[in-house]
Amino acid sequence: MELHILEHRLRVASIAKESIQLFTYGLIKLAFLSSKTRCKFFSLTETPEDYTIIVDEEGFLELPSSEHLSVADATWLALNVVSGGGGFSGSQPIGVTKIAKSVIAPLADQNISVFMLSTYQTDFILVRERDLPFVMHTLAAEFTILRVVNGETVAADDLGITNGFVKPKLVQRPVIHPLSSPSNMFCVTSLDPDTLPTVATLLMDVMFYSNGVKDSVVGNEDSGHIRFFSFSLIEGYISLVMDVQTQQRFPNNLLFTSASGELWKMVRIGGQPLGFDECGIVAQISEPLAAADIPAYYISTFKFDHALLQECSGSHSLSGRHCQDGNLQL
Ligand code: ARG
Repeated sequence: MELHILEHRLRVASIAKESIQLFTYGLIKLAFLSSKTRCKFFSLTETPEDYTIIVDEEGFLELPSSEHLSVADATWLALNVVSGGGGFSGSQPIGVTKIAKSVIAPLADQNISVFMLSTYQTDFILVRERDLPFVMHTLAAEFTILRVVNGETVAADDLGITNGFVKPKLVQRPVIHPLSSPSNMFCVTSLDPDTLPTVATLLMDVMFYSNGVKDSVVGNEDSGHIRFFSFSLIEGYISLVMDVQTQQRFPNNLLFTSASGELWKMVRIGGQPLGFDECGIVAQISEPLAAADIPAYYISTFKFDHALLQECSGSHSLSGRHCQDGNLQL
């Protein structure tokens, strides 16, 4: 298996809901007019708390510097696991479940903080640039580590950590943050970038003007519903995470969903904002899911984490097993 260290140098930032209008000029350019920018990595996620932006240095320049933009004080690099071309394997687990044992747990064992961004296409594990030597040392046993430099994939240099780490004791990792589960269901979808113009006004509405919507379809009064929408445009690929009510506003057959078109239940992690230093949160959630073979996506935002879990349905034999084995206590 290969681990790619992407070359984008990423900033993670938060925009207060009421200040979004100060940033829409830049955000519209990053999302819809990307050929006018040099940005290659952009993600925008709206939660009830705020908008979380993950953007490369080039894209960051499109946003005004403002007291209304809180920026996490580190540069982050994205890691991406690429399963070697060992032929087609239809039964591969997806999302964070696939990388829980090989990437997430070892990093947590070494107290390395991560920030997760699952997309339709793949899962990005963000680590702080300054932690990279430790990250590489930790994962070198499991992966061939490659670095992307000027778009070319090259062998990553040894960053000079010679003495081995103390082998971590096999500690239990209890879930220590409160969990909650909104009532709406989500889908993880994609869009052909060529069709982006046909839904640009709808997307602008969903992304920036959703608050005042008094539309029965949106069901915003419904208790237990959460506002959550994620758009990303990364290396030319679009990924969208939205609830079913929002998906219904899109023209038929425009959004790609995976073959089985599953819906996902969201689990939000965190009572107080989680910050950026604490380690092992993703591991606490993803390890039990992986142990029970429960597919899951995982999206960190500025304040909280979000896991998307496959719903159990009796008709799906695997899910039936998931239901029994699932030991994530809600
Ligand atoms: N750093 C956490 C971990 O290593 C995940 C991110 C939590 N913080 C956040 N702001 N979402 O597990």
